[in-house]
Amino acid sequence: MKNYNISIIKGDGIGPEIVDEAIKVLDAVSYSCGFTLEYKEYLMGGIAIDMTGTPLPNETVTGVLESDACLFGSIGGEKWDTLPRELRPETGLLKFREAMGVYANLRPAVIYDELLNASTLKPEVIEGCNIMVVRELIGGIYFGQPRANDGFKAYNTMVYTKPEIQRIGKQAFELAMKRDKRVCSVDKANVLEVSQLWRDTMEEVAKDYPEVKLSHMYVDNAAMQLVRNPRQFDVIVTGNIFGDILSDTASMVVGSIGLLPSASTGEKTAIYEPIHGSAPDIAGLGIANPIATIESAAMMLRYSLGEEEAANKIEAAIKRALKEGYRTKDIAAYDAKQVVTTAEMGDIIANFINK
Ligand code: NAD
Ligand code: IPM
Ligand code: MN
Repeated sequence: MKNYNISIIKGDGIGPEIVDEAIKVLDAVSYSCGFTLEYKEYLMGGIAIDMTGTPLPNETVTGVLESDACLFGSIGGEKWDTLPRELRPETGLLKFREAMGVYANLRPAVIYDELLNASTLKPEVIEGCNIMVVRELIGGIYFGQPRANDGFKAYNTMVYTKPEIQRIGKQAFELAMKRDKRVCSVDKANVLEVSQLWRDTMEEVAKDYPEVKLSHMYVDNAAMQLVRNPRQFDVIVTGNIFGDILSDTASMVVGSIGLLPSASTGEKTAIYEPIHGSAPDIAGLGIANPIATIESAAMMLRYSLGEEEAANKIEAAIKRALKEGYRTKDIAAYDAKQVVTTAEMGDIIANFINK
């Protein structure tokens, strides 16, 4: 029987709650599809600071590098917000992504028909929405040098090189070829030099994909257009910080940030992570939506392990749970049949895998 090594990072806040549910579902699906998953847990974020003094222990990097794929929950919390920046949970996550070379973060925002009433937007606006946000993940203003804050003057640097833009561009166009063949590149080229290079380079990459229609949009307009008419988008490709912000917006278009999974892929081990954070305001209450993490697990099966059937089964089980009216609190509109806890949602989805 095939066996895969999966590294698990639960992290902080709701991280452990949601990852436990994804593991439940992975166990159900691997059993039924005839492969096994061997999990090894590693520390990152606040819990790693508390237990080892650093947000990203070396064992985490070496352990994840040896694994076939990594499933990650979320990190961060108020407790660690006043530490020096290099010791903060978020810095650990950024270093981790950099160490894995995961430059392409794929964040799909797809509406479930069953959840047309869960969004704060009107059903007729969001029906049929199917967007893939391709966010550059290990460059841009998050990583640019110089950066400093001396208490009087503070600055960061938004920097991209042409090869960095080319490789994320290629990813976006390749994805578009398998979708509706439309790429919208989002930038701020009316103000920023770095965005001008981004735009010019996307035009060059587009020449290799004559079937794909490339358009450009300024990021402020893109934020507005996403809530005005999300269906106009197929693939959105953008830099690190714009992609961070626009994907949170896209999540509300489809109903909740608790629904958006992601795949962070690139040079080494891929990381599968919900787009949301550690949600300290609801941690421990048993109300977090585990679907974003369960869908991330499905993406892991599809992209890293090639277990397409298992990924499809998970997605079908989620759909079935929603169809039968089960909702966590964040997506409980008036038509919810039953509002369930994080763990109950995990149980329901795991049970539907083999039904
Ligand atoms: P957040 O995404 O944690 O939460 C924003 C809001 O969405 C909160 O009201 C939260 O309750 C809700 N929410 C998030 N996930 C949910 C889920 N699965 N189900 C239901 N509701 C959910 O963002 P924040 O509050 O700005 O940040 C909190 C902490 O998380 C910070 O320390 C931040 O740095 C960190 N963070 C980590 C990641 C990550 O680990 N990848 C991502 C974003 C934020
Ligand atoms: C995300 C988060 C992270 C990011 C933070 C916690 C560093 O917001 O995964 O979207 O900005 O990339
Ligand atoms: Mn974010």
